[in-house]
Amino acid sequence: MYKINENYLKLPGSYLFSNIGKKVTAYKAANPDKDVISLGIGDVTQPLAPAVIEALHSAVDEMADAATFHGYAPDLGYEFLRSAIRDNDYRERGVDIALDEIFISDGAKSDSGNIGDIFAVDNKIAVCDPVYPVYVDTNAMAGRTGDYIADEERWSNVIYMPCTKETNFAPELPKETPDIIYLCFPNNPTGSTITKDQLQEWVDYANKVGAVIIYDAAYEAYISEENVPHTIYECDGAKTCAIELRSFSKNAGFTGTRLGFTVIPKELKSNGVMLNSLWARRHGTKFNGAPYIIQRAGEAVYSEAGKAQTKQQVAYYMNNAKTIIEGLKSAGYTVSGGVNAPYVWLETPDGMSSWDFFDYLLTKANIVGTPGSGFGPSGEGYFRLTAFGTYENTLKAIDRIKAL
Ligand code: MLT
Repeated sequence: MYKINENYLKLPGSYLFSNIGKKVTAYKAANPDKDVISLGIGDVTQPLAPAVIEALHSAVDEMADAATFHGYAPDLGYEFLRSAIRDNDYRERGVDIALDEIFISDGAKSDSGNIGDIFAVDNKIAVCDPVYPVYVDTNAMAGRTGDYIADEERWSNVIYMPCTKETNFAPELPKETPDIIYLCFPNNPTGSTITKDQLQEWVDYANKVGAVIIYDAAYEAYISEENVPHTIYECDGAKTCAIELRSFSKNAGFTGTRLGFTVIPKELKSNGVMLNSLWARRHGTKFNGAPYIIQRAGEAVYSEAGKAQTKQQVAYYMNNAKTIIEGLKSAGYTVSGGVNAPYVWLETPDGMSSWDFFDYLLTKANIVGTPGSGFGPSGEGYFRLTAFGTYENTLKAIDRIKAL
């Protein structure tokens, strides 16, 4: 009999957001008259920007004509998109990234899950706790996390770096030395971030101990404060220790359109082997490229009109974040995040567990959020609300919470 990858059997339940989706569907089926508002999964609600729609239409027309039709995309992605990324996301910030260090993909979720392919199974990973579950679950699938200890809600072979009120929601350098360090700033789920000096400490540490940092900067567009790094490559020495993951989902509303990219500098080497070559080999073999029309849409995000329009969308969501923060504070909640990120992180009231508060909000106010403990043991007692709803629903949700 053939054998399966038994690592999958160690995974607890289903993926966090699938689990929540099932609970909400069941609640709606039992209560069809209820107006349920979702501030749960970080999915956008505003339509694609006009500049993006225009680019999509014209790319679709190109596909209808043999003279302008496009088949398979180049391995790394179209040069028009990679140049726009290099110029806008990096050169503008004084960072020099070469075109062949940028790999276009169908999004940061895939990249953050797939990047593990190029690393040995016996590397030890370190993650923030709470953390975006994809980093941990995909390492579990690869057999890198040991066994799941159900009553502690943690894996035996993972270094957890608590990010709690006590640490100002930032990780501290771990006591045990990791091989692969996952960092996400601005952070999902806590909405916190770290300064450039703090990130520099991580870069120095990784270079010193020979670790690689997988830096997820999917929420970069939400940075509003000075001194918060927009890319890890603003830090000295980051090119010898860091891979950066970026997304078009949150800055330009591409959650359903799918586009992202990964940067792997050629200086990044393990015992003389370039990670860039390994990822190029992997990308070329297992991926046939993001669609031409979507890459054209991505290019339009960097046009003058596209930049202005997507900036407005980000401002719209950040106004929601402000509404959530002010409303929750006036209702007596302790909140953080929501200043450089579209997520607000709140302490559950009266010592309620995260899942009890989830049920309470769903049944008493018909609001869906995300239980903090779903992101890791240190998320217990916390809850995440996203700013990605419509303004009207956000206001309505906050009024309902205030009325509880
Ligand atoms: C979230 O809610 O954490 C995000 O939607 C996750 C994602 O971007 O995949």
